[in-house]
Amino acid sequence: MNPFRRRLNSRKTFFPQVLPYCILIFVILAVALIRDGLNSTKTNSHLSEFENQASPDFTHLTGAVHYYYEVFQRLKAEGYLLPSSKALCVESISGHDVMALKSVGVNDAIGISEAALRASDQGLNHLFDNNTFDFEFFGYSSWFDWSVHPSETAAQICRTLNVGGYLVVHISVKDVYTYNSFIKLFTCCSLEASRDIKVHEFATDSLHEVILKKDNEYSSHTGSYECKVPMYRRKLIKNLEPLVMEEPVDSWSWDGLGKNANGIQYLSGMVDLSFKQRYIYVDLGSRNYDSSIGSWFEKQYPKQNKKFEIYAFEADKSFYKEYTSEKGVTLMPYAAWVRNETLFFEIDREPTDVGLQWGQMGRIQPEQSSNEHKDYVDNLYKVEALDLADWLIRSFSQRDFLVMKMDIEGAEVNMVKRLVESGAICLIDELFLECHYDRFLKCCSGEKTNRHKRTYAQCAKLFAKLREDGCAVHQWW
Ligand SMILES: *[C@@H]1O[C@H](CO)[C@@H](O)[C@H](O)[C@H]1NC(C)=O
Ligand SMILES: *[C@@H]1O[C@H](CO)[C@@H](O)[C@H](O)[C@H]1NC(C)=O
Repeated sequence: MNPFRRRLNSRKTFFPQVLPYCILIFVILAVALIRDGLNSTKTNSHLSEFENQASPDFTHLTGAVHYYYEVFQRLKAEGYLLPSSKALCVESISGHDVMALKSVGVNDAIGISEAALRASDQGLNHLFDNNTFDFEFFGYSSWFDWSVHPSETAAQICRTLNVGGYLVVHISVKDVYTYNSFIKLFTCCSLEASRDIKVHEFATDSLHEVILKKDNEYSSHTGSYECKVPMYRRKLIKNLEPLVMEEPVDSWSWDGLGKNANGIQYLSGMVDLSFKQRYIYVDLGSRNYDSSIGSWFEKQYPKQNKKFEIYAFEADKSFYKEYTSEKGVTLMPYAAWVRNETLFFEIDREPTDVGLQWGQMGRIQPEQSSNEHKDYVDNLYKVEALDLADWLIRSFSQRDFLVMKMDIEGAEVNMVKRLVESGAICLIDELFLECHYDRFLKCCSGEKTNRHKRTYAQCAKLFAKLREDGCAVHQWW
């Protein structure tokens, strides 16, 4: 027999035999790759392609495909989806959503893992050009994966979606705060529609279908933001602990109470923080690490397992040394202030006022021109002061969750005024504010200090006004 012929023959019989195994191995590999969301360079293996299948028979659809079929039929009837749409299903592990799209006549449809989409614009992983898809879908079966890097995924969806294209997401959110955080992640989009949807086998009590439309090429909210306090936020503020409006008679003994009080109703204890971009803690007047970052924020503040970036503002250089070893804390060597300028800072190292424990704290005083070229005059140290509102606006957005503690020794009233006027107050999700007032003296019944020229009643009014204006502020003592 001609050996060449024989080889051809064996190939003919060999391939049909191994083909099922090849398919099986391919499917297992594809599933494994998609699950791991590898950042590998084998980019196209992430895609669950159905293009080359012989036209599937949809008469016996599985439950999940049937569920998606109804979803897409409805979207098609409403005009969000066209037969000609180029469609992408995100975190399409089973491919059921892709199959359902084809079954409603949208043939140009593919699926991808969320991790692969997130990496789809990095280095060798360039999978999709900008403005590639007319329709993107993120189904409920996989929404849990949002919690890992939601803002990065949202950015890639914004990048790959066509202007005028639609994004449809199924999410289950517990509260309106979380829902709004989620919508804000899609900086390129505006909300088209949102509705409760009927759930078949995906058991959950409130599943929303959110339809967003990409209305601009670039993120519309960078650099500017509107400062409107929505109704849901005002409602949350009503659930904070009541303000103490009457001056406590023993106010001289109140130092540190705010940190330890069990009665604080933290905002982060009331809402789900999953859909925030970054998690920030800004400590104004941080002194040593354990003063409030270590003793209170790290230990007591409810963080929902999120990793917070910590910024410590401290103007007194004597505290700086220990911050060089505190990982994850960025020292801001400034006095937080209403504008950039040089100030003289009073640092009273003598514990003269023991009853009030004010020794070692600093107070801001304006620079006197005669002291321009000195770093230290009498009891005054020269420090750089930073325009806090400007820094907040340049550094953070309303998509971030920002917590601030403000203990700036009397400068807080001017500071709050500046934050409100600049709109930067809207960037602060939760504020712990110490308002300094003249307290009763321990020694002498009925007598008060004469340091701040501010009464308790004035402070109480400031807190009440802030809450009324939509700021989740707590009294910090
Ligand atoms: C694609 O979009 C990204 C993000 O919007 C942008 O930074 C990038 O320059 C765009 N690339 C091209 C080729 O337009
Ligand atoms: C204030 O100073 C900071 C830090 O040096 C700088 O980045 C910022 O641009 C200044 N802001 C203004 C309004 O000048």
